[in-house]
Amino acid sequence: SVSSAFDFAPNLFPLSSTAQGYTALGAPSNPALDPSNALNGGSLEKNKSLTYLNGLSLVIGLIIGSGIFSSPSQVNRNAGSPGASLLVWVVAGVLAWTGAASYAELGGAIPLNGGAQVYLSHIFGEWAGFLFTWCAVVVLKPGSAAIIAIIFGEYIVRAIVGAEAAEASTWIDKGIALAGLVLVTLLNCVSTKLGTRSADVFMFLKFFALIGVTVIGIVVAATGFSYNGPANDDWKKQGWFEGTSTDVSNWAVALYAGLWAFDGWDNVNYVTAEFKNPTRDLPRVIHTSLPLVILCYVLANIAYFLVLPTSLIESSNTIAVAFGHQVFGPIGSLILALLVSGSCFGALNATTFTSGRLVYAAGKEGYFPEIFGTIGLGKSHRAIRLHSINAGTSKSRIPKKMVDWFADADAGFFFTPIAAMTLNALLTAVYIFIGSFDTLVTFYGVAGYSFYFLTVLGLIILRVKEPDLERPYKTWITTPIIFCCVSLFLLSRAVFAEPVQTLLVVAFMVAGLVIWFAWVGRKRGKERSRFRKVGEQDEKIGWRFWKRWRS
Ligand code: ARG
Repeated sequence: SVSSAFDFAPNLFPLSSTAQGYTALGAPSNPALDPSNALNGGSLEKNKSLTYLNGLSLVIGLIIGSGIFSSPSQVNRNAGSPGASLLVWVVAGVLAWTGAASYAELGGAIPLNGGAQVYLSHIFGEWAGFLFTWCAVVVLKPGSAAIIAIIFGEYIVRAIVGAEAAEASTWIDKGIALAGLVLVTLLNCVSTKLGTRSADVFMFLKFFALIGVTVIGIVVAATGFSYNGPANDDWKKQGWFEGTSTDVSNWAVALYAGLWAFDGWDNVNYVTAEFKNPTRDLPRVIHTSLPLVILCYVLANIAYFLVLPTSLIESSNTIAVAFGHQVFGPIGSLILALLVSGSCFGALNATTFTSGRLVYAAGKEGYFPEIFGTIGLGKSHRAIRLHSINAGTSKSRIPKKMVDWFADADAGFFFTPIAAMTLNALLTAVYIFIGSFDTLVTFYGVAGYSFYFLTVLGLIILRVKEPDLERPYKTWITTPIIFCCVSLFLLSRAVFAEPVQTLLVVAFMVAGLVIWFAWVGRKRGKERSRFRKVGEQDEKIGWRFWKRWRS
């Protein structure tokens, strides 16, 4: 059975622990840190109020990010032709779809917080859950943040310098990416509220950008306006599949790039607990949101192909800027650059928020050094906390209104998992520094799909091992089988396609296993009881503190 130091949290906060994709490992043990409280304005009475349409937009919002504005180059370069690229997008989408359906079944069968960590622990033993957490902290979270930050940097530079800046130095892009990372991390360190409020604002931008590209593309196709390219664009006469790559490894690399744009489907379960009627609505949401995203992405790609020369698509990570430029000139490129960089900034903000909580939870669990499971700036920070508790009273010079705005779900400024977010920011900075979009996307994909594969394989094992387990939602058995076969193909090609990144991922996993079997796992028995006690104490203090703050 699953035993985790977080198990007590759902008991204390029965309905508050599954926020909209924001809790990554488990419910944070302090209510002030629980993002679902932050997101609904601090109400502990979690209302199961999500309707089908809410769920739909939430899941779509979790998936769409930087990918559709940056991956097409790598997909097209490796698939070799527009037709093959579109096929890659569809296959990537279907893979995400089968994955989401499989995770939905697991979420119903093992109804605990924590996603893959919990499923893997339950099915394979705690070492697997640890390995996932370890890789999430050192590879997946900072890796995805680095990719988003790099795209943010590239789009910002093009917003300032214009679409022609394609040759601008990558170091300027990376500098801006780092600046964005620092800003977002500071924002999230100062206050939970500040972090989540800005998330809401940026959420809209990506919808505007994607719908913009798609609608423009349809109009372009309908009116017959189309790019008249040089000779290398002969696919328009010769056929959509001219030049298709025959090397399977290239197809794998193209798929990794496409899968990046669909990533986030593994978060569907965070939405489950919020539904009025989860058994009916969760499958409905999955089976409409993913087809919708696939349709949008395919339309957007067709739009790119109709408007831009293939050579440009293949050479640019900032395809939306080129698209805007081609259709509307400099104004179009500026608008799209701003929309996409805003969308990336929002995505960076959201991952910083969740990563902080993930590392924090790992520290609390005893998976990581204790320091990462702490809140605020340490002992000396008490003074600052008291200052903000007193805010708005005669003892403080901070105006009450300002404090309310920042801190009504927050127990004051800097009352956030600062150590955890600092670790995440440092690792992200390293990846930004040494990586590029192309290399990081494969790196992230290999690591991510190793665990997706293992988890969905676990679903099949669970069907055999525990056939009578209650499963509120059950997929066809073909769904996990398709997922496992395709991801196994992807993983098996990785070492041929991108040996460096693959070996790096393998090295991280081996390191994780060594850490578990030589250290963390062995101390587990003693540590668990100790951490549970510390956690419970914290819980009570946080609870009292929070109640006082609210009243
Ligand atoms: N699909 C998103 C994008 O295109 C990536 C989401 C990152 N993944 C995650 N689990 N946070 O940018």
